[in-house]
Amino acid sequence: FIFVYHILSLFEGGLGQLGVGLAQMLREQYGKENVILSDIKRPPADVFNMGPFVYADVLDYKNLRELVVNNRITWLVHYSALLSAVGEANVTLARTINITGLHNVLDLALENCLRLFVPSTIGAFGPSSPRDPAPDLCIQRPRTIYGVSKVHGELMGEYLHHKYGLDFRCLRYPGVISATTKPGGGTTDYAVQIFHDALGSGHHECYLRPQTRLPMMHISDCHRATIEFMQADECQLSLRTYNIAAISFTPEEVAAEIRKHVPQLTVTYKPDPVRQNIADSWPMRFDDSNARRDWGWKPAYGLPELVTDMLDRVQNKRTNAGLPVS
Ligand SMILES: NC(=O)c1ccc[n+]([C@@H]2O[C@H](COP(=O)([O-])OP(=O)(O)OC[C@H]3O[C@@H](n4cnc5c(N)ncnc54)[C@H](O)[C@@H]3O)[C@@H](O)[C@H]2O)c1
Repeated sequence: FIFVYHILSLFEGGLGQLGVGLAQMLREQYGKENVILSDIKRPPADVFNMGPFVYADVLDYKNLRELVVNNRITWLVHYSALLSAVGEANVTLARTINITGLHNVLDLALENCLRLFVPSTIGAFGPSSPRDPAPDLCIQRPRTIYGVSKVHGELMGEYLHHKYGLDFRCLRYPGVISATTKPGGGTTDYAVQIFHDALGSGHHECYLRPQTRLPMMHISDCHRATIEFMQADECQLSLRTYNIAAISFTPEEVAAEIRKHVPQLTVTYKPDPVRQNIADSWPMRFDDSNARRDWGWKPAYGLPELVTDMLDRVQNKRTNAGLPVS
């Protein structure tokens, strides 16, 4: 593949739920030295030993520029953000990281002709958006600072693409489910915690009502979608921001699927007003037909496959950590 020897990607916000796994997948394709992971947190030993890691604060433009120039970076993956629930608890910080940080990244990408990937989210929709399904183009009036900053990102990126030719690429991710990395304070986090609880205490207390349906995706589908989209030829893209979908489920549906393997799992529901309110304003399903048509997006994991895989991985993790498995 033509890019293999030139790609040097920089990830900021790379130590969160999604960054490490994506870097790993990209390194398998492009070589470990060609992908630089960065964050403002100290990396765990295994991540540090996995490949190049540097400190980079998305708010420090000069430092970002130095990294891009000195390393001849060609792709930039912008993962640093404050997620929905955390953002509502700290609106000023969310505004700074999610909006000022994004402006830095857009300027940097434009200045250095980078291919820029910025993820968006189901949170970029709001109560006046069509919810079942939400198409790519529709009313977007989110009511969280997280959603507002993501819509701002989508619009700024598209504007700079149309005005100056910036190679901006954005996918609206559903809630992402992973076993090895912890979620970062979003509204869909319960769908990860329930697996740990199923194999730990055998009991999960859910902060959403049982019938709250949200779009979700296995982390490996999310990484594969991101790489396939980044690799797609520009002429394949009729949009710069696409929905990607895999599964939509409710807490009671995922619990029922887990019970096929862990029959003793009990779930109680204690809705948290902040997160329930956010979830009620988000789409129940995504329409991703444009992504499927334009660049061939197709998820691999349905609900049964996701549950089997998550239980296997969480069980291995608990066993390796010397924890009991119920
Ligand atoms: N995880 C999901 O379910 C999901 C769903 C939709 C969209 N997304 C998007 O994907 C991206 C990655 O999400 P995630 O789940 O890995 O998030 P996360 O919260 O787990 O990680 C975000 C990372 O950003 C870093 N960060 C914070 N402030 C920073 C700063 N000033 N400079 C540099 N880094 C900083 C944090 O240290 C953290 O490691 C985010 O943009 C998020 O909006 C995630």
